[in-house]
Amino acid sequence: MTEPLQPLVLGIESTCDETGFALVRGRELLVDVTASSMDEHSRFGGIVPEVASRAHLEAFVPTLREALSRADLTLEDVDAVAVASGPGLVGSLTVGTAGAKALALALGVPLYGVNHVVGHAAVDELVDGPFPERFLALVVSGGHSSLLLVNDIASDVVELGQTLDDAAGEAFDKVGRLLGLPYPGGPHVDRLAREGNPEAIAFPRGLTEGRAAARHPYDFSFSGLKTAVARYLEAHEDSGEPYSKADVAASFSEAVADVLVTKTLRAARIHDVGTVVIGGGFSANSRLRELAAQRFAEAGIELRIPPIRYCTDNGAMIAALGSALLRAGVAPSPLDLAVDSQMPLSLTSVVPR
Ligand code: KG4
Ligand code: ZN
Repeated sequence: MTEPLQPLVLGIESTCDETGFALVRGRELLVDVTASSMDEHSRFGGIVPEVASRAHLEAFVPTLREALSRADLTLEDVDAVAVASGPGLVGSLTVGTAGAKALALALGVPLYGVNHVVGHAAVDELVDGPFPERFLALVVSGGHSSLLLVNDIASDVVELGQTLDDAAGEAFDKVGRLLGLPYPGGPHVDRLAREGNPEAIAFPRGLTEGRAAARHPYDFSFSGLKTAVARYLEAHEDSGEPYSKADVAASFSEAVADVLVTKTLRAARIHDVGTVVIGGGFSANSRLRELAAQRFAEAGIELRIPPIRYCTDNGAMIAALGSALLRAGVAPSPLDLAVDSQMPLSLTSVVPR
């Protein structure tokens, strides 16, 4: 006898500048298609919310059609719709969530409004297989830097810490601007850093010492570090003293990676967790990858980082989380669900009141 097919979940991502659609059955990813409006924003040096919203509206139907056609499936095959209903840009969220509601209503299938940041962790299951009982997720991107204790991806996620100011990718983009590199600066700073000496300049590690560290054991702060880089550059430019941009990039990258890995490692020890998942677009950072691989291996902690295409914003992460919610029997969201640009990370999905 053949096993009955697991439900087919359509995942929709539209929290920032990527319009993503994916189809997941169980833990199997069938297709994942993303359209990005980044090119339209780059000349402004940052995401323009109005432009992003309009781009989602334009990309919604073509991207959905492409996903269905690549998977050789039709809308009638879809058993549930999952959409990222927060956190994110309110206009972007509204376009995706309105579209998802229309689809769920027309198809007569359940709708799940899910948490985008938790989705960054959930997608790893499609790549590396079922999650262990508990794990830590470090979600780092241009918009978020959060450390999550995941007791159950469908129902029990605790936010241990987050950034108090800039996200890791955001800090890289700002330092990229200081160094005269194109936007988004993250990948350029990373490339330059590989040619420099990470120990050349002792940049500060925010919230790692004294009372600040005691009060914020798992929170991050990168704005002091960014200011230190700005001061260093100003001082050298004013005095005419020569300096190496590569050393600045390398020492800055070292400080960010060191703080992220040190705090995650401490949380793993304190919470007795044996697995760490890293997600979000900043997980592409080469120094973070290197340092995490080295220090977690030394500590006997399993490190799971999905390939970069699943770390940047995409539909697969939303479909993965929707599929996990279905498996766990979590109630679908009401059709009048509202988007929540500040959705707390303790909320994996919007459940009926
Ligand atoms: O997840 P993502 O694609 O978009 C969101 O922010 O949601 O993350 C992009 C962020 C940008 O800030 C980008 O500059 C940064 O991650 N980034 C990097 C690297 N690749 C992307 N930062 C440092 N090193 C990289 N290799
Ligand atoms: Zn994201």
